Amino acid sequence: MYIILPVNNHHHHHRFVYSEEERRKRQNPEHILESIGLKSGMRFIDVGCNDGFFTLPAARIVGSEGKVFAIDIDKTALAKLSEKLLSEQLVNTTVICRPAEDVIIDNEIADIIFYGTVLHDFKDPLKVLKNASRMLKPDGIIVDYDWRRQNSPIGPPYEIRFSQEYVEQLANEAGLTIISSEVVDSNFYSMTFKKH
Ligand SMILES: C[S@@+](CC[C@H](N)C(=O)[O-])C[C@H]1O[C@@H](n2cnc3c(N)ncnc32)[C@H](O)[C@@H]1O
Repeated sequence: MYIILPVNNHHHHHRFVYSEEERRKRQNPEHILESIGLKSGMRFIDVGCNDGFFTLPAARIVGSEGKVFAIDIDKTALAKLSEKLLSEQLVNTTVICRPAEDVIIDNEIADIIFYGTVLHDFKDPLKVLKNASRMLKPDGIIVDYDWRRQNSPIGPPYEIRFSQEYVEQLANEAGLTIISSEVVDSNFYSMTFKKH
């Protein structure tokens, strides 16, 4: 049974919101994070984290030796995330309520910088990627996991989706080199970048 709620807030372009349980059938965050190489002790930045679909599993995986930074502009979503972090006593995660365009936490601190179905949502995705390039360790990677550019009954409308070719162009402009670009399944692609 699908639980579909109409959305009337700032997620206007997302026509439906699915329950986390329903979403997990399409996207398993633990599996995705493990497949991109996230490990205990790493430093991970979740850009456009919302209420933590990827942040919470990432915080569990990196553990007490690791560190997670979670960035979003949605105060309500971040409050929910903070509550969940607190209830699990995940003290390794810092929540940052600012536009990703304005955030450079520090130079060369991250092993993995992650965009989970979000790059197309930023006002200035090029600036966001340039910031990521600054924050990335020399051997770190940037991962963009997003909806394939096609019409589908679920997910954001076709017009706002980014094709893999477009993301590669943006990333090159931001000083990044592509490592891989893969179609994951009927809905999603996963792309990986490193610094030049
Ligand atoms: C489709 S949601 C994806 C959230 C999350 N990565 C996930 O997979 O559940 C997009 C998120 O991007 C956030 N967002 C949009 N523009 C932003 C910006 N300029 N800076 C930071 N976050 C932004 C929204 O508030 C929203 O939470």
